[in-house]
Amino acid sequence: MNKTERGRFGSKLGAILAAAGSAVGLGNVWRFPYETGSNGGAAFILIYLLCILFLGLPVVLAEFAVGRHGKTNAARAFTLMGGSRHWRLIGFLGVLTGFLILSYYGVAAGWTLEYVFQSGINGFAGKGPEQFAADFQQFASDPLRPMLCLFIFLLLTCGIVVLGVQKGIERGAKMMMSLLFVFVLILVVCSLSLPNAMAGVEFLFKPDFSKVTGATFLAAMGQAFFSLSLGMGCLCTYASYFRSDEKLMNDAFSVASIDTCIAILSGLIIFPAAFSVGISPDAGPSLVFITLPNVFQQAFSALPLVSYCFSLLFYLLLAMAALTSSISMLEVVTAFVSEELQIRRRWAALGSSLFCLLLGICCSLSLGPWADYKIWGMGFFDLFDFLTAKILLPGGGFLIAVYVGWFADKKILRDEITNGGTVAVPLYGVFRFLLRYVAPTGILAIFLDQMGVF
Ligand code: TRP
Repeated sequence: MNKTERGRFGSKLGAILAAAGSAVGLGNVWRFPYETGSNGGAAFILIYLLCILFLGLPVVLAEFAVGRHGKTNAARAFTLMGGSRHWRLIGFLGVLTGFLILSYYGVAAGWTLEYVFQSGINGFAGKGPEQFAADFQQFASDPLRPMLCLFIFLLLTCGIVVLGVQKGIERGAKMMMSLLFVFVLILVVCSLSLPNAMAGVEFLFKPDFSKVTGATFLAAMGQAFFSLSLGMGCLCTYASYFRSDEKLMNDAFSVASIDTCIAILSGLIIFPAAFSVGISPDAGPSLVFITLPNVFQQAFSALPLVSYCFSLLFYLLLAMAALTSSISMLEVVTAFVSEELQIRRRWAALGSSLFCLLLGICCSLSLGPWADYKIWGMGFFDLFDFLTAKILLPGGGFLIAVYVGWFADKKILRDEITNGGTVAVPLYGVFRFLLRYVAPTGILAIFLDQMGVF
C-alpha cells in the first residue's frame, strides 16, 4: 500500500479525541479504581501522577514524533528516525503486546456488555451483596456466555476499524467521547450527593504513606503506561494519521490531561458510592462488577428509577470507553498486518480479530473451567494482564525512550516537535532531558527494585 492511500484524521479535534479515546478506557474506570483501592488510595494516586508526568508524558511525545514522522505502521516507523534497523523490534514487540492486551481486555469489555444488558432489563433490582458476588462468579466462569459477549465486542471493534480511520475511528471517537464526558459528569454529581460521600473523597485525596512499598511504584508505573496506551506503538500508529500542522506537544498534554481527569472522576464516582454504603474499596478487579451494582442498589434503594438509570449509564459508559480503546489496539495490529503483508485492511482486521478471539477464549476459560491450569501461578487472564501492564508496556516505554532520546536523528526529532521550526516549544529542553535521563532510569529503577536488586 503506498503512502498516499493511508487514512488521515480529518480535524485536530478528531485526532485528539481519537487518541484520548484510546487512552480513556477500562484502564480508567475499572483498573484505576481497583489499583488505587488495593494500594492504599491517595498515596498511590500521587505516585501515579508523578509517573504520568515524568515517565509517561515524555514517552507519549516520543511516540507521537516517531509516528507522525514515519506515516506508517509501528514496526516500520521505528526504522525511519535513524539508527539501526534492529530498532523495529520495538514495533514487533508492540504488535505482539497488542494481541495479548486485546485478548484479555476484550474479555473484561465483554462483561460490560453483559452488565449493560442486565441493567437494561432491570436485572439488578432487589439483589443483595452475596447475590451479586455469586452471579458474577457464575457468569465469569460460565463456559459460554462471556465468550458470546467477547465475540460481540470484538465484532463491534472490528466493524469500526474496517470502516477506516476517518469514517470509523474518528467518527466513533467523537460520538462516544462526547457522550462519555456527559455520563461521567452526571454520575459524579449523583455519587457525591450520597450520604457519607466525603469518606470516599477523603480516601482518594488524603495520602497514607505507610502503605507505600516498591510494589506500589511498579503498580503505579504499570497503570500509567496502561492508561496512556503507551509502550506498544498505539499512539505512534494514531500519530501516523495526524496532519502535519498538528502541534504534538499540545496534543500530548491534552491526551494526558483528559486521561488523568477521567481516571480521577471515575474514582469520584466509585469511592463515594462505595463508602456511602460501607463497602471496602479494595475488592480488586471485581470492584466494578460486584461491589458497584450492589452499591447502586443500596445507595438509591428508595429511588428505584435513579438506581436503574445510574447502573445503565455507568455500564454504557464503561462499554463505550472500552470500545474506543480496543479499536486502537486492533488498529496497531491491523495497520501492521495490512501494510507489511500487503493485504487489504478489511482482511487484516478480520484475521487479527479472529486470532484475538481465540486467545480471548483461553483467557475467559481460565476464569472458569480452566481455573486449575496455571503458568507461574496465574491463569491466562491474570498472566496476560501481568505480562503486558507490568513488563511489556514499561519495557516498550524504556526502549522507546532510549531509542528516541539517544539513537534517533536529533534534527528529525526537533523538526517533528516544532513542526519544522514553525512553532515555539519552550519545554523542548525539558522534554529531551526527561526522555534521555529520567524516563529510562526511572523505569529501570522500578524494575530492578521489583526484582530485589536494591
Ligand atoms: N489505555 C486504555 C485504557 O485505559 C487501554 C489501551 C488502549 C492500551 N490501547 C492500549 C493499553 C495500548 C496499553 C497499550 O483502558
